Amino acid sequence: MITLKQVKRVYSAGEVKVHALRGVDLSIERGEFVSIAGPSGSGKTTLLNIIGCIDLMDEGSVTIDGVNIGLMDKAKKAAYRRNELGFIFQSYNLIPVLTAYENVTLGLSLIGMNKSDMRERAMTVFKEVGLEGMENRLPSRLSGGQQQRVAIARALAKNPKIILADEPTANLDSHTGEEILKLMRIMNEKHQTTFIFSTHDKMVMDFAKRLVLLHDGLIAGDTMRKEA
Ligand SMILES: Nc1ncnc2c1ncn2[C@@H]1O[C@H](COP(=O)(O)OP(=O)(O)O)[C@@H](O)[C@H]1O
Ligand SMILES: [Mg+2]
Repeated sequence: MITLKQVKRVYSAGEVKVHALRGVDLSIERGEFVSIAGPSGSGKTTLLNIIGCIDLMDEGSVTIDGVNIGLMDKAKKAAYRRNELGFIFQSYNLIPVLTAYENVTLGLSLIGMNKSDMRERAMTVFKEVGLEGMENRLPSRLSGGQQQRVAIARALAKNPKIILADEPTANLDSHTGEEILKLMRIMNEKHQTTFIFSTHDKMVMDFAKRLVLLHDGLIAGDTMRKEA
């Protein structure tokens, strides 16, 4: 479903050129639960951002369901991000002045969903992530783990094909991190949503069904793991 061919990304930091990705080949099928693992600076965020159309590649191609995202114009990319992708970030990235409910429904109003469908969809996902009754809280009145659950609800709400999660548990204690991973895994199996999540944490890698190792911008390992 997702195919990367010889993807390269070079950043210029003043005089210096940083080769963040140096020729990545990777195929991910629908419904996979893949961890992109590697030390800090190995290119994990760059890789996720390229798949998510947040960053541009310099060379190579990324094809998703047969569509070459490198050939899309800005408007097509924005529509693709809005309609097909969900994002989860290390620091949750909720809008602080909006309630949990408003954070989740904002993206739904952008895709033109009407109010009553929006309400129904939001209630379904709040239930799924275990936050029933907390819809009207502001992010500041939720714990880190609860904020990340809101972020998962937000990502799931539009029923995306792919959820990209950049170090989703890095700001959480290990117990809460594990709960978040279990939730992602349940959603992966229930909805067949493809999850691609990055980490440098061994505990997180152990949750993956497939482990792709990045090292200095290249794939250094790719293994299917036995069911954890
Ligand atoms: N916007 C940028 N400008 C310059 N260098 C960058 C930029 N983004 C990332 N890099 C560099 O690219 C390399 C890979 O970064 P990144 O993808 O963030 O790795 P990871 O997420 O694995 O820590 C690092 O050396 C980083 O410093
Ligand atoms: Mg990163």
